[in-house]
Amino acid sequence: MKRVAILLSGGGSNMLRLVQDMTGDHPARPVLVASNDPQAAGLTRAAELGIPTAAVDHRAFPRDRAGFEAALLEPLLAAQPDIICLAGFMRILTPDFVARFQGRMLNIHPSLLPKYPGLHTHARAIEAGDAEAGATVHLVTPVLDDGPLLGQARVPVLPDDTADSLAARVLVQEHQLYPAVLRKFAAGDRIPVLLQG
Ligand code: GRF
Repeated sequence: MKRVAILLSGGGSNMLRLVQDMTGDHPARPVLVASNDPQAAGLTRAAELGIPTAAVDHRAFPRDRAGFEAALLEPLLAAQPDIICLAGFMRILTPDFVARFQGRMLNIHPSLLPKYPGLHTHARAIEAGDAEAGATVHLVTPVLDDGPLLGQARVPVLPDDTADSLAARVLVQEHQLYPAVLRKFAAGDRIPVLLQG
C-alpha cells in the first residue's frame, strides 16, 4: 500500500477528492495533509476525516525558503510518504527539496501546460482568446510548472467566460483528473490520463 502525503495552502478541494478516492482496492492511502498556512481550511477538512495534519507557517521564515522547507521536512519525512501530491500548494519549492522527491511528487496546475505556467492561468487563456483551457497533473521538477505530463483535462472556453466561471469549470475537471492520475500512478501506470470536459 503506497503512503501519500498531500500538501495544500487553501481549501483543499483537490485533497478532499484524492482522499475520498483512496479507499477499497485503491493502491494508496493518505498518511499526512500538511500546509504552509496553519489557517488553511484544508487542514480542518483533513482532520475531520481523521488524517494526520501538520502546518509550518512560511511567514515564520521570511526570506528563508530553506529554513521553511527544513521545518516542513520534519513531519513530512516522519510520515514516510512514498508519493507526495501538491494540491493547491502555493509555495515554490527549492531544487534541493524537489530533488528529495523527484519522480514521486505530483502537482496539479490549472492550465493546459506547457501553456500558462505560474499564476492567473484562466485570465491569461481568456485574454489570449483560447478556445480551450483546463488542468494538468505533472511530475514536479525544479522548473516551475514543468515536468513530465501524467494527465490533462480540457474544457471549452465560453464566450461570456470570466476567470471565475472558467476556474469553476476547470475545477470540476481537476476533481476527476487528479484522483484518476494518482490511482494509476500508485499502481505504477504512467500512461497519461486525458479527459475532455
Ligand atoms: C485549484 O485551482 C488548483 O488547480 C490550484 O489551486 C486551486 C485550489 O485548489 N493548484 P484546492 O481547492 O485548494 O484543492
